[in-house]
Amino acid sequence: MAEKLKKAAVMGWPLRHSLSPALHGYWLSQHNIAGSYTALPVQPDHLAAALKSLAKDGFCGVNLTVPHKEAAVAYMDEMDPVATAIGAVNTVIVQGGKLIGRNTDAYGFISNVKQHYTFRRKHKAIVLGAGGAARAVVKALKDEGFGHIVITNRTPDKAAMLAKHFAMDAASWDHRAFLLKDADMLVNTTTLGMQDAPALDMDLSLLPEDALVTDIVYTPLMTELLAAAKKRGNPIVDGLGMLLHQAVPCFEAWFGVRPQVTEDVRKHVLGNAA
Ligand code: ATR
Repeated sequence: MAEKLKKAAVMGWPLRHSLSPALHGYWLSQHNIAGSYTALPVQPDHLAAALKSLAKDGFCGVNLTVPHKEAAVAYMDEMDPVATAIGAVNTVIVQGGKLIGRNTDAYGFISNVKQHYTFRRKHKAIVLGAGGAARAVVKALKDEGFGHIVITNRTPDKAAMLAKHFAMDAASWDHRAFLLKDADMLVNTTTLGMQDAPALDMDLSLLPEDALVTDIVYTPLMTELLAAAKKRGNPIVDGLGMLLHQAVPCFEAWFGVRPQVTEDVRKHVLGNAA
């Protein structure tokens, strides 16, 4: 009898050019797995119905992206502790008709950083932005042992709420350049610097030269922030690896094999980022 096709997908709206089908597709063929990973554009109003029909439609799970990650929490039968702490689901596993919500973004963020960089100090980290991605980054940095995380955001209330949730600090967006003094790490989680978005105006002059600078934006791969940091000698880690690493536990949960993040898969995904 033919092996049953294992189906997974990414749900988002609008789903412009997700790189996840190319990523999971690479691993499926590498491991010779009878499976598929497709892009499912789902409007916010249709999210509940789309999630409810996953089991019936034969899906073993889905990834969720903008704008569904927070809204999906209400439709999960079970949540893992990380997804609960972050308040968002990026991975759904369909198990015995139940929907299990997980969040692998924090894992993806820190695994990417640690693949390319070894922390010398974990005292002070500065996080730009307070959206969904920032929640995962702050959770990851706190779990990694950063004692002092300062969150700064254009909308101050969101920074204050996020800081309170993780018992960290918030600071004014207008003062962001001054926060860099003594920092061990700077992370951009805003959409600033992304292709077609406004530039991130960030003066790095107070940042110690050995502090790590990371950006979760990966279109372009070398953002202006990373280029400026590199120019002054700071170590940098680009954002594409977060996407690659967050997919590892998802693929393993759905398809039963833990895939590797290699230079080849990175090149394959980049080749699809037209
Ligand atoms: P994600 O889930 O990917 O983090 P998001 O929740 O929409 O996306 O968050 C986007 C982040 O980029 C927010 O921190 C947002 O700041 P606000 O909370 O003030 O909206 C930030 N951002 C987007 N455009 C910005 C801009 N022009 N200037 C400053 N920050 C901006």
